[in-house]
Amino acid sequence: MSHYQAVKGARDVFPDEMVQWKHIEEVVSRLAAIYGFSEIRTPVFEYTELFQRSIGASTDIVGKEMFSFQPDPGGRSITLRPEMTAGVMRAVLQKNLLAASPVQKLYYISELFRKERPQAGRQRQFSQFGAELLGASSPAAVAEVIIFMMHVFESLGLSGLRLRINTLGNSLDRKKYREALRAYLAPCYSRLDEASRERFEKNPLRILDSKNPEMQDIVAGAPKLHDYLGREAVDDFEKVLAYLSGRGIDFQIDHLLVRGLDYYSYTAFEVTSSELGAQDALGGGGRYDSLALELGSPSEVPAAGFAVGMERLLIAMQKQGLFLQQTPEGPSVFVVVQQPEHFDRAFEIADKLRRAGISTVIDLARRSMKAQLREANRMHAASALFVGGDELASGLYPLKNLVTSSQETFSLDGVIALLQRQAAVKGSL
Ligand code: HAM
Repeated sequence: MSHYQAVKGARDVFPDEMVQWKHIEEVVSRLAAIYGFSEIRTPVFEYTELFQRSIGASTDIVGKEMFSFQPDPGGRSITLRPEMTAGVMRAVLQKNLLAASPVQKLYYISELFRKERPQAGRQRQFSQFGAELLGASSPAAVAEVIIFMMHVFESLGLSGLRLRINTLGNSLDRKKYREALRAYLAPCYSRLDEASRERFEKNPLRILDSKNPEMQDIVAGAPKLHDYLGREAVDDFEKVLAYLSGRGIDFQIDHLLVRGLDYYSYTAFEVTSSELGAQDALGGGGRYDSLALELGSPSEVPAAGFAVGMERLLIAMQKQGLFLQQTPEGPSVFVVVQQPEHFDRAFEIADKLRRAGISTVIDLARRSMKAQLREANRMHAASALFVGGDELASGLYPLKNLVTSSQETFSLDGVIALLQRQAAVKGSL
């Protein structure tokens, strides 16, 4: 036992769980290729202003959840990224990628940091997989992003998901609506909770998706955003929905869905899972054409994307029993050293086997033969190769199949040829 524990809100992923992570990552990467998204990696930290400008100064993320610090005295503040969209847009603009190819489809599997109160499904370091489609935000582009996300869930076998979708209109629609909403909420100001009071001035739309039942009662009678939408937003939304219905994707229109990041306009969406308890949002996203303007681009860049929390995905999959209890794959061969004085020669043999592409283990703790065989079985090694004085003198080595217990003697080349053949057969299954 060490004196140290992992920092609260951060967790270790051990090899048995790694198998599950790899499975999800493999499905995400395979489908990303099918949908034409290429992988991008951006730095773990960015200048703090990037997130202030993009996510929005009034949001919870920027207001209280960022890990920010100043590495150089008097220098610019930097922040551990709390999400990926801003960094991806920054990277694309910085490299002027859209000049070379006007539509960029990028995906990521990345670590993020938010200073939230840790609880089940909510951590301070967490991971997301997500996709950003830059250069197009037509209804088909937005629908493609949502269809890709839902396809990942389907391929992982998840059920019981709820896709809620809304349109936030354009910035003019929202400006008119914000005024109307403030006028409605002003007489109820004294009944608003602290978070809603903060939002009243800066972004009253966020009061709409408050989880506090008293706030929900108050907003039940509020003017509706969809009554303030222009024709353009309504038509755009209907087209997105038609694409989704056409592809057999179930959704619920939720006029109160706003989301906690400021960069969205027009379509926004969220997926929840009934398996997740209080932190039930599995993923979300939307369209964000004006983000580029916030970052100093001379014009808007049509864009849409989504991100899904990997830890929450794992919890939901575990609850639905979607991970088969697999016996971990053991090495092809365990080199059993019969007398300690022959360890170095056996070590050379292990190296030869590995260079021939055969997964090999040798007991580095130099235990007794009995303990080595116990270890070989525990690791599910397929075979044991015995190396001792007689074997080294004759160049002939007994190889025991640990599944059938049959044993045969081979030259080292014979051992290599046999194990390579076995590996090839296994690989082709
Ligand atoms: P978000 O809704 O802030 O969106 O995060 C997406 C997902 O990340 C959440 O639904 C949740 O599953 C997971 N998540 C967020 N915070 C935590 C946390 N503290 N612990 C564990 N999981 C968490 C975004 O981040 C946007 N960038 C999505 C997007 C991409 N919009 C357009 N493109």
